[in-house]
Amino acid sequence: MMAAMPYSPLASKRWRRLAQLAGQAPRLSIAELCQAPARLAGYSLEVDGLYADFTRHLVTNEIMGALRALAEEAGVMALFQSLAAGEKVNLSEDRPALHVALRSPGLGASASLQQGFQAERQRMMEAAKALREGAWRGETGQPIADVVNIGIGGSDLGPKMACAALAPYAGQGPRVHFIANVDGAEIRRLLAGLSPETTLFVLSSKSFMTSETLANAATALDWLGQGLGLAKPAASRHVLAVTASPRKAAAYGVPPEQTLTFHEGVGGRYSLWSATGLPLAIAIGSEAYADLLAGAAAMDSHFLEAGAASLPMTLGLLRVWYNNFLGWRTHAVVPYCERLGLLVAHLQQLDMESNGKSASRDGKPVGVATGPVIWGQTGTNGQHAFFQWLHQGTQAAPVDFIGACKDGASLPEHHRQLNASMIAQADALMAGRPAPDSHRHYPGNRPSSLLLLDELSPRNLGLLIALYEHVVFVQGALWDINSFDQWGVELGKQLAGQILAGEATPSPATQELRRRTGL
Ligand code: F6P
Repeated sequence: MMAAMPYSPLASKRWRRLAQLAGQAPRLSIAELCQAPARLAGYSLEVDGLYADFTRHLVTNEIMGALRALAEEAGVMALFQSLAAGEKVNLSEDRPALHVALRSPGLGASASLQQGFQAERQRMMEAAKALREGAWRGETGQPIADVVNIGIGGSDLGPKMACAALAPYAGQGPRVHFIANVDGAEIRRLLAGLSPETTLFVLSSKSFMTSETLANAATALDWLGQGLGLAKPAASRHVLAVTASPRKAAAYGVPPEQTLTFHEGVGGRYSLWSATGLPLAIAIGSEAYADLLAGAAAMDSHFLEAGAASLPMTLGLLRVWYNNFLGWRTHAVVPYCERLGLLVAHLQQLDMESNGKSASRDGKPVGVATGPVIWGQTGTNGQHAFFQWLHQGTQAAPVDFIGACKDGASLPEHHRQLNASMIAQADALMAGRPAPDSHRHYPGNRPSSLLLLDELSPRNLGLLIALYEHVVFVQGALWDINSFDQWGVELGKQLAGQILAGEATPSPATQELRRRTGL
């Protein structure tokens, strides 16, 4: 028997079949498809506290069937099972991808690794509890009133987004702040309002080598040292480190008992579930943090169990349909909840750092379009900014609308208006409205998904974030790329180092920029 050819989108008959089916798309009407009696049942799913309505898409059952056949050929679920078995799915870094193992005990890691994860989680929860209860004292014996997380990318976005989303769960405990950008105006502004005696810094960096984080950490430690008269501020009760490189943290001067670690197989943008979640655990407490993990674990189980029919698979396939077969290269995310405002930035990193690739898993040119641009902002604000483009622009983008059925933090009348606007926008995009005056004509037939949480609770946020992680995974598998490395970020870092070191730069234009900026 001949060995089966490894999957590649370019060589796939099913990929070509989908390209043919795309020819039907201009003749499809989402509004008409939605009139079919079985549409709602076939194009909606409920996973725990998350209801997804994906009726409003430019797909027929035949197209969905062809997309699912492609997923079968690409071995998407087999690849996820490899991930969930702890295999080294991140080929270019020769590592497993362990984010699922962090929240779904029994998946993705050996028993001894799992034990290590649990022990580290315990240390994190204890530190968070001591800080929340005021038992953790600074060098002058005062409880900590302000925690400042210093980190960037995955060491910032996940916990910052979740702290904002779950603000109503904060209750007691220190205020939690985030500093990411090396723009010194940020840290100066923050420190001006804080007291060294009652401030603790979490130095969060997987690599403990990121220049922005080290620059902000140095400024913070100087401030601490001067304010408290400390010769070694990094070793003081005002500093915790979170890293997958504990030796580097130790070399930096943070004692091991003040360093929380995680495995290098946890990608930065997937690290909210590791010790990187410390600021969130400090903000919302260990019970709510455990609920967040449980929500993510429920999505992991759903994905594994429902497989081809699961929500992550369906949304991932739909994205590939628009991107690769209809040529729509961007995807909008619009949460109708101001507390989810940072979700878009988190998803930008998650999606675009994972799937912005041109090489296939075995290093060949991928040959098809990969990750789309992810963009958006909260509704209803977005309605007064970019929705004009969505409704009447010459390009189109599928939209994820995200809402909450109830919101105890809002006001009933406001919440009704918010949700009415969200549903209205999805319907307006779908149905459009013909008009003889072309300025007033809405073409419609523009797709969207609605993701409705029962409420924005820790558990449901866990479901939502894990959903998006798996949607990213599905697309990466369909494109045959490695969604877990990020080599593309390295060159700019190296060049910045050369510029700072005064080394020669290539072009007269660059030299002029250096002259003007004093470099
Ligand atoms: O530059 C990209 C990146 O490596 C991200 O993947 C990561 O989340 C971020 O930088 C921060 O890295 P670290 O946690 O190692 O400081």
